[in-house]
Amino acid sequence: MENLKLLTPLSNKALNFKNRVFMAPMTRGRSKDQVANELTATYYAQRASAGLIFTEGTQISAQAVGWTNTPGIYTPEQIAGWKKVTRAVHEAGGLIFAQLWHTGRASHPDFHGGELPVAPSAVPFNSQAFTPEGIKPSVTPREMTLDEIKATIADYEKAAQAAKDAGFDGVEVHGANGYLPAQFLEDGSNKRTDEYGGTVEKRARFLLEATDAAIKIFGPERVSVRLSPRIPYNDMGDSNLEQTYMYAVQALEKKHVGILHFMEPSTLPEGVKPLAPGARERFSGIFVLNVGYDRKSAEQLLESGLADAVSFGTLFISNPDLPERLRQDAPLATADASKYYSGAEEGYTDYPLMA
Ligand SMILES: Cc1cc2nc3c(=O)[nH]c(=O)nc-3n(C[C@H](O)[C@H](O)[C@H](O)COP(=O)(O)O)c2cc1C
Repeated sequence: MENLKLLTPLSNKALNFKNRVFMAPMTRGRSKDQVANELTATYYAQRASAGLIFTEGTQISAQAVGWTNTPGIYTPEQIAGWKKVTRAVHEAGGLIFAQLWHTGRASHPDFHGGELPVAPSAVPFNSQAFTPEGIKPSVTPREMTLDEIKATIADYEKAAQAAKDAGFDGVEVHGANGYLPAQFLEDGSNKRTDEYGGTVEKRARFLLEATDAAIKIFGPERVSVRLSPRIPYNDMGDSNLEQTYMYAVQALEKKHVGILHFMEPSTLPEGVKPLAPGARERFSGIFVLNVGYDRKSAEQLLESGLADAVSFGTLFISNPDLPERLRQDAPLATADASKYYSGAEEGYTDYPLMA
């Protein structure tokens, strides 16, 4: 049997990961009333052989929600629901981080009694929201006041504490895919002229304060930050992506953040400069790369030294025992995309282990 680097252990000062096959965060839309449940626990426990599980995006407050039937982490009921999950994952020998999520402008008035979702600035944009009544066009958000920004940072801290109370091993600040921290960071969505907008230092402040809030509760080694400069999802854009994100990475490095979870398609279009190498260079913690990797490309990536671990999304949906399948180079099942964001057991907990 070939020895895969993917299956070798990895550690930092606080955590020992049994392999480098991490499970990427994935919204599955099965948390009725925003509470993770027994089925959620079964799903994640089935995948506990991952070196680390990142949960699906988990809203930090009522205002943060922007997707139907996603779990929260801000009420006692939600904490109790997640306790079932962390217990089941730990019993199965896994590690699990909660992904702290604020959707910002990507939310919709349907989640807020008709009120507008909030964002750094009231900039119109072209996207869609997954509301309880189905997919609807995004709306122009309302600009957050300074007091609301402070209160939102406090929500990150409360959510991190709630995650600790629920038994999570750490948290990930979701700074990717055009949600609130990314909306602050990129200048296409941030037109503020106060201390949270303008220069890159000011635009990065929100992300960094949210990260500080998580560090305050968990310490730096148990905090991950997810970034996705090359993913324009949610109509994102910045006039100097490289400068913006390299500044953010350097600032995270100064905070000794444990994990940088960087999204960049494994193959970029001709002429598009990859930003992962520059981020890797500037960051001394655990560097996790994602998007579009398979057994071969992930192994090559680790061998090249460009990342310490790879996170897999869709492959983990349909292959609960993915690390073992990679070890054996066994056939991989394909996920049913029609069951990604809603439903019950089907397409969720009914993918079998290898025969
Ligand atoms: C069904 C589904 C839900 C997702 N939800 C989230 C999410 O909640 N948070 C997040 O950061 N990324 C989310 N993503 C992105 C994945 O984490 C990952 O980046 C993507 O699947 C690419 O990795 P892959 O090529 O290994 O599938 C989601 C992807 C899918 C397919």
